[in-house]
Amino acid sequence: MSKIVRLVREQVEVVVDASTGAPTILHWGAPLGEGSDMHADMVAMVSALDRPLVHGTFDAVAPVSVVPEHGSGFTGRPGVAGRRGGGRAWSPRFTTVSHSAVEHRLTVDAVDEAAGLALTTSIALGDVLTVSSTIENLGDRRYSLDGLTVTVPLPEFADELLTFSGRWAREFQPDRIDWRHGAHLIENRRGRTSHEDPPLLFAGPRGFGEWQGEVWGVHVAWSGNHQLVADRLADGRRYVQGGELLHSGEVVLEPGETYTTPDLVGVFSASGLTPATWGFHRAARSYRAHPDTPRPVLVNTWEAVYFDHDLDTLRSLASSAADLGVERFVLDDGWFGSRRNDSRGLGDWWVSEEVYPDGLRPLIDHVVGLGMEFGIWVEPEMVNPDSELHRAHPEWALVTDGYEPVLGRRQLVLDLAHPDAYDHIHRHLDALLRDHDISYVKWDMNRDHLQASGIDGAAGTHAQTLAVYRLLDELRTAHPEVEFESCASGGGRVDHEILRRVERVWTSDCNDALERQTIQRGASMLVPPEVMGCHIGPPTSHTTGRTQTLAFRAATALFGHLGIEWNITSLSDDERAALRAVVSLHKEYRGLFHGGDSVRFDTASEYCAHGVYAPDRSAGIVSFAQLTSAASLTPPPLRLPGLDLAASYRVEHLGLPMETRGPGRTRPHWMAEPGGVVLTGRQLAIHGIQPPSLHPESAVLFSLTRL
Ligand code: DGJ
Repeated sequence: MSKIVRLVREQVEVVVDASTGAPTILHWGAPLGEGSDMHADMVAMVSALDRPLVHGTFDAVAPVSVVPEHGSGFTGRPGVAGRRGGGRAWSPRFTTVSHSAVEHRLTVDAVDEAAGLALTTSIALGDVLTVSSTIENLGDRRYSLDGLTVTVPLPEFADELLTFSGRWAREFQPDRIDWRHGAHLIENRRGRTSHEDPPLLFAGPRGFGEWQGEVWGVHVAWSGNHQLVADRLADGRRYVQGGELLHSGEVVLEPGETYTTPDLVGVFSASGLTPATWGFHRAARSYRAHPDTPRPVLVNTWEAVYFDHDLDTLRSLASSAADLGVERFVLDDGWFGSRRNDSRGLGDWWVSEEVYPDGLRPLIDHVVGLGMEFGIWVEPEMVNPDSELHRAHPEWALVTDGYEPVLGRRQLVLDLAHPDAYDHIHRHLDALLRDHDISYVKWDMNRDHLQASGIDGAAGTHAQTLAVYRLLDELRTAHPEVEFESCASGGGRVDHEILRRVERVWTSDCNDALERQTIQRGASMLVPPEVMGCHIGPPTSHTTGRTQTLAFRAATALFGHLGIEWNITSLSDDERAALRAVVSLHKEYRGLFHGGDSVRFDTASEYCAHGVYAPDRSAGIVSFAQLTSAASLTPPPLRLPGLDLAASYRVEHLGLPMETRGPGRTRPHWMAEPGGVVLTGRQLAIHGIQPPSLHPESAVLFSLTRL
């Protein structure tokens, strides 16, 4: 019993048996409380949960340890997959050597003498549960590691999963599934976190909601290939296992070498999904890269001009933006080398003389002179075959010799694990940042890895992912005043390891507000609002062709890191005034939008309701959107749980510029009243508030002020 370790926080507790080789999490969930004899309580818990031996299986019940072992009788996916020459040492079994618990972190060292492997496992409990493992080759011959993943058990009653799928311009689409027998597998071989299979899932008892039910969330913090498995064993036990997905031969440990898994990051709440996801947000807010200054409203040139870079147009775009109150101007793709369209020039990171004969300074000076910051787009991990870089160094492409590579957006990945390629790119980016007054870098990554081999011909995604992290780290150290954004064709690289290196993620290339309601809701389950790039695009969306009001586009973008991606040089006077009012509204409430607790509410699928509450519950802003038409023209009352139950709140309609009125012959009484209505937090949680009748693709905002 001396090896039972408790990690306790206010809302969550983890109890670990450190004696099982890799440690075993016995409990991850609600705090168990302070009994008079904690030792006795733990003895009782272990005894109470002892599993009987049954017919038809082994004479021991193998634990679901953090790195479960086939050789111990675990019948699911083992935590280690690997081998020495001839296939030996493929099924290690570890023995605990020592453990230490310092503050809220447990570290357990274990060894398998027969296999010549050591395993160090770390379990830390803060805003999130963070689990990782390191394997070391103690032998005198190489060890090929096919996989090292970490595992957390979940209760048998957690029988529903919430997972996410997506594609370009449609990220973070939620999917609820019954978690019956067997495994649900999320695998990603795209070399970036991916639109399609984000490494994130939640589990809970069937029907868990935003504010009810115990909920567990698990995320693999990694920006390369990953695997995340939710498995139910034949004996009923459930676990989630995650880590990096390694191609065959991708990681080979020479004697003395180690491999460390990505962090498996977990959150728990006893009261639903919304409070559970605050764990992810709080963790993100604690990362070194997380910004502590107000998020500047930006304008991005992409959907405004695409590749049509013209100094006068860009200057006028900047002037129009400054006039609206925009604070940062981001020059997107098209400023360098021969990059006049997306078929060439990637890799040639010098300012195009053709488009900018006097360099970038005339534009930067203009932008800075208007009181805005200047930001720039780069895609450092890529090269076009039609580029000077590729013509000079075809050997730097991350391809497999002897095969014609498949292009993606007519480009190849550049092998940043190749020291010369790395130095070249590092030198150019460093010079770009040193030679110009650049405050912000939008770092893009627009194609998947495919048959991506490094210098030695082995799979190279692992090394490439580490090289990208290193490049970002080194540039950040050298240019601490510069902020970075993670973009990968939109939200293809949104995860908690990249978040340690960037101030913002580009959530999606889709600026259609209808799509964005769902995309941002999904993304909000992993990242806090202030890092989530949300742009007001043109009235007719470039990615869907839908036309939406400014009020709906604004209501949707206001809650994140606001930007404008629209050619605002030709707005009507009314549009300009309305957009200026939106920017000013955002700035007025920016502290709340970006520092509060994101809240989401359960509604029928025709609606989307979410918002933000001040951490001390003194204020809030809620958005209620009508996505599609519904059976009734009157939406049901919206219940707002999670406020201070005993306090009184003034609820008021927060009007948006150019807001349309909707089909209702009247509006709810409280909306029509000056000063809104005063309700207690308890009333808001229990009966809520009646939204107006709305047209599809429109939204209203409500403000909440504690009296
Ligand atoms: C994909 C990004 O997601 C867009 O915002 C834009 O930067 C283009 N790449 C530029 O090529």
